[in-house]
Amino acid sequence: MDKDHPIGIFDSGVGGLSVLRALRAELPGEDFVYFSDAGHAPYGERGDAFVSQRSLAIAVDLLAQHRIKGLVIACNTATAAAVHLVREAAVDLPVVGVEPALKPAAALTKTGHVAVLATRGTLASAKFKSLHDSLRAQAEFVLQPCDGLAAAIEADDQDLVRALCRRYTKEVCCFGTGAGEIDTLVLGCTHYPFAANAFAEVLGPHIQLVETGKPVARQTRRLLQAQGLLNAAGTGSVQWQTTGEPQALRAAASRWLGL
Ligand code: DGL
Repeated sequence: MDKDHPIGIFDSGVGGLSVLRALRAELPGEDFVYFSDAGHAPYGERGDAFVSQRSLAIAVDLLAQHRIKGLVIACNTATAAAVHLVREAAVDLPVVGVEPALKPAAALTKTGHVAVLATRGTLASAKFKSLHDSLRAQAEFVLQPCDGLAAAIEADDQDLVRALCRRYTKEVCCFGTGAGEIDTLVLGCTHYPFAANAFAEVLGPHIQLVETGKPVARQTRRLLQAQGLLNAAGTGSVQWQTTGEPQALRAAASRWLGL
């Protein structure tokens, strides 16, 4: 591994840009390669075998094509299905995964009630179950799968995004800041921060939204530092790769990251 090499990041599509945004802020001297697997999205409704096979193929590709020095799996669904497999397959590669921010949410909630929105795949995974089990004593978590929401964000269909945010938050009872009400919402899919305005519109200003970009960026810094792989001489450049429509990725990168 060479510290001048880029950090690889992948997601099923544009959701990982919410993590890339935090990584570029935390590590301005690094260069990045962003891989969007939009040609095979959404991952959340596909099942573990498919997502694991894609995650391994992408890790191998990023290593071979770009000689990445570290990998951020900027997708909760892929992390739940495959982070252990990627670590087994690439033992020398520092790998950071993402998981829904239940722990920060448990620390933030005042009512002790938290809603977790994520993909069906993430919520059904053994990894998520063990995270949830470890925090049951600290807060009450209501889990809500959001079929179609990542795809609507991917397609930048704002009307559908708003409709799905309304529908899924309605299914979770009940938001508010009173006793027994849910005052904290975990955005447990990296696409969902890009629907934060739509959630805030439905829920009002008193419900806290929690995402994982910043903690993941800090963890990436720690891991690279521990291995002597931090770079201060890069320019924050991003190389782009996608199995989907380059135009959709380009538009999202410009819209959300100004790139
Ligand atoms: N962005 C992904 C996640 O964090 C998944 C979206 C999807 O492809 O379903 O779970």
